[in-house]
Amino acid sequence: MTALAGGQSAGEPLLTVEDLHTYLATGQGVVRAVDGVSFTLGQAEVLGIVGESGCGKTVTCRTIMGLTPRRIAYSSGRVIYHPWGEGNILDLSERELQKLRGTHLAMIFQDPMTALNPVRSIGDQLAEAVTAHTRLPRAQARDRAVDLLTRVGIPAPERRMRDYPFQFSGGMLQRALIAIALASSPRLLLADEPTTSLDVIIQDQILSLLLELQRDTGMSMILVSHDLAVITEVCDRVIVMYGGQIVEEGDTATIITAPSHPYTKALLEALPQGGHRGPLRSIPGAPPSLIDAPAGCRFVPRCPLAMHECTGWTTELVETGGPGHRARCWRHHEVGRATAWQASDSA
Ligand SMILES: Nc1ncnc2c1ncn2[C@@H]1O[C@H](COP(=O)(O)OP(=O)(O)O)[C@@H](O)[C@H]1O
Ligand code: SF4
Ligand SMILES: [Mg+2]
Repeated sequence: MTALAGGQSAGEPLLTVEDLHTYLATGQGVVRAVDGVSFTLGQAEVLGIVGESGCGKTVTCRTIMGLTPRRIAYSSGRVIYHPWGEGNILDLSERELQKLRGTHLAMIFQDPMTALNPVRSIGDQLAEAVTAHTRLPRAQARDRAVDLLTRVGIPAPERRMRDYPFQFSGGMLQRALIAIALASSPRLLLADEPTTSLDVIIQDQILSLLLELQRDTGMSMILVSHDLAVITEVCDRVIVMYGGQIVEEGDTATIITAPSHPYTKALLEALPQGGHRGPLRSIPGAPPSLIDAPAGCRFVPRCPLAMHECTGWTTELVETGGPGHRARCWRHHEVGRATAWQASDSA
């Protein structure tokens, strides 16, 4: 497959995901971690993916990056990264995937400590990433590494290059990982719960940094979080996942003010009072098993609007009003009017 030299204009999609399935063979059975996910991502767009733990957010991102565990994972569907051509990323060899990851796509993960090698200095790891992506000579790669540390707001970067990961705080480590991700000047950054392990003030700083970098570079970003407040603060558009499927998508303002799926409404009600960030309240009931997913709507056991028909037939995502606003619910027109139920106060 031949890489195209950019040249796309804003408005054209950068990434198209069509009917993506990723199943994982485990000792307990086949986990349908991603079960028919489709979406597009525009140039310079910031898209949020939100949903409770275990709903398939990380596996979706890892599938796009070609980073699922090959021994147990089976994927089908289409993932098209348009600047690379119209071929399916799922069909690429490991070598082609590495090239794509090294030049166009980058991902940062929830736990910065485990993403870095504890016995190598930050500077060595960053310089190595620069060399891998740019083939610059060693001295210039180190200069570029220092530039990147400066760019992500690490004070005294020359000195901090010599530090090991244990000498960095969680927030500093996440900044270092963002610097490593930026080494390849990616056009698409997948940020998987990048602030979840950090305290609230540091979360704000990292989110601001990510947004600033996104605006400066014009890259597109997929931000994944279980926290709708994080997503709505940063993203242009939101995808809500439940039980391996998208249950609602729309622009951020619409999702906040006029949710059309009871699960989105429950997530909104679970936010701390006043919409500020803090401990989330939990939604009553448990997420569905992805091994024996029930027929019909997966939200039935937790849904205050559930009716007999919901258990028998699954609805597709349907347009619910404004452009690009879609929900997977038989009663989507009634969600706005439905009486709220009270989420419990446990975090
Ligand atoms: N390596 C793995 N082996 C077995 N099951 C996995 C693996 N990774 C994820 N899963 C399962 O896939 C489902 C989706 O997981 P994940 O995408 O990590 O959820 P999320 O990121 O939304 O919390 C979960 O049921 C999880 O237990
Ligand atoms: S389809 Fe039925 S059970 Fe599912 S979210 Fe809508 S009303 Fe609730
Ligand atoms: Mg995850």
